[in-house]
Amino acid sequence: MIINHYATPEEVARAVAKEAFVRPSERGWAHIAVSGGSTPRLLFELLAEEPLRSAVRWDKVHLYWVDERCVPPTDPESNYGMTKATLLDHVPIPKDQVHRIAGENDPEREAKDYSWLVGAELPFDGNYPVFDVIILGLGDDGHTSSIFPHQMELLKTEQPYAVGISPKGQPRVAMTGPTILAARQLLFHATGEKKAPILRAIAAKTPEAKAYPADYILRHRHDIAVYTDVEL
Ligand code: 6PG
Repeated sequence: MIINHYATPEEVARAVAKEAFVRPSERGWAHIAVSGGSTPRLLFELLAEEPLRSAVRWDKVHLYWVDERCVPPTDPESNYGMTKATLLDHVPIPKDQVHRIAGENDPEREAKDYSWLVGAELPFDGNYPVFDVIILGLGDDGHTSSIFPHQMELLKTEQPYAVGISPKGQPRVAMTGPTILAARQLLFHATGEKKAPILRAIAAKTPEAKAYPADYILRHRHDIAVYTDVEL
């Protein structure tokens, strides 16, 4: 677990933007999977304005989602909808390089279809598709992707995407553990004091951390960078 600490959420977001979008797209094709929720909103807003907007080679970016709520894209809960409003409507990424999860479809069907799509677009490392970059979020309960503590089995599910269920019962299409861990570059983007107890428990390897899906991911790869404003 590599800690990249910055003083403010904006500095964190700018660092994530450079590491996850600018540098990979300068190198060539960049297949990038983003998470949803509230944290990435600042990242997307900064990517949509100068200087970052011009620093990214948008023509080289293929964008995917780590997870999606099973709602229509126009629903306020939609991760795609949030990304479209804050980023996609403001940058010249080719439309056929934006690969949204169809939250309006049947969850099990969409998990299979999106697994196929990702399999068709990406190279494989053994059994799993390899993203160039995956940006993970961190839930206040230690979840990541939409793998929640009550569904730890998704950390070992072979199919690249499966159906997760949020604690409130909302179905999600979620990237599963082996595909997350197969990424060329894996990073967490987690800011705000609410993330502090989770991050500190994971960093201290406390017994309760083992219940966190994020802890499992961080224990299974040692080159994961955590971008945060939390003092650890
Ligand atoms: C989602 C996200 C989820 C998110 C965490 C953190 O669909 O909700 O992908 O995994 O990353 O819940 O959410 P916040 O950024 O809102 O704290």
